[in-house]
Amino acid sequence: MRIGLGIMVMAALVAATAHAHSASANESLSYTQAQASTGHGIFEARCSACHGATLQGIVAPALAGPHSAVKGKTAANVFDFIAHSMPLGAPGSLSRDQYVQIMAFLIMAFLLKENGHRSNRASLTYRLVRHSAMRI
Ligand code: HEC
Repeated sequence: MRIGLGIMVMAALVAATAHAHSASANESLSYTQAQASTGHGIFEARCSACHGATLQGIVAPALAGPHSAVKGKTAANVFDFIAHSMPLGAPGSLSRDQYVQIMAFLIMAFLLKENGHRSNRASLTYRLVRHSAMRI
C-alpha cells in the first residue's frame, strides 16, 4: 500500500512539474479585461503618485516606454518585486488578488501594442504569474 501511494504521489509530482514547466515557457500570459481594469484603478490609487498615471515615472522609475526599468525582466521577477516591496512605504499591503490585478494591468499597458498580448476569457492567476518566464 505504502509503495503504491508513493508511486501515486511521484506520478502526481511529475505531472505537476510538467504542467508548471509548460506554464513557465516564454508564452503570453492571459488575463481578463475585468482584472486589468480593476488593476488600473488600484494602480491609480496606490502607485501612480510615484510612477505616473501613464507609467512614465515621477519620483520612481518609469515602468513603460523606452526608459522602462522593467524592460527585459521576466513577469515572475517583476511580480515578485511588486508583491514584496511595493507600494514603497507599505510593502505587502495589498491582497494577493490585487497584486495579480495590477500585473494584469501592467501586462496590458506594457505589452498589448508591442507584443500583441490580448485579454481573453482566462484569468491571470497567482500561480501562473509567479512562475512566468515571459519577458516584459
Ligand atoms: C512612494 C512612492 C512609490 C509608490 C507609491 C510605489 N512605488 Fe514602485 N518604486 C518606487 C521607487 C523609489 C522605486 C525604485 C527603488 C527600488 O527599486 O526599490 C520603485 C520601484 C518599483 C518597481 C521596480 C522597477 C525595477 O527597477 O525593477 C516596480 C515594478 C514598481 N515600483 C511597481 C510599483 C507598483 C505596482 C506600485 C503600487 C502597488 C508601486 N510601485 C508604488 C516608489 C514607489
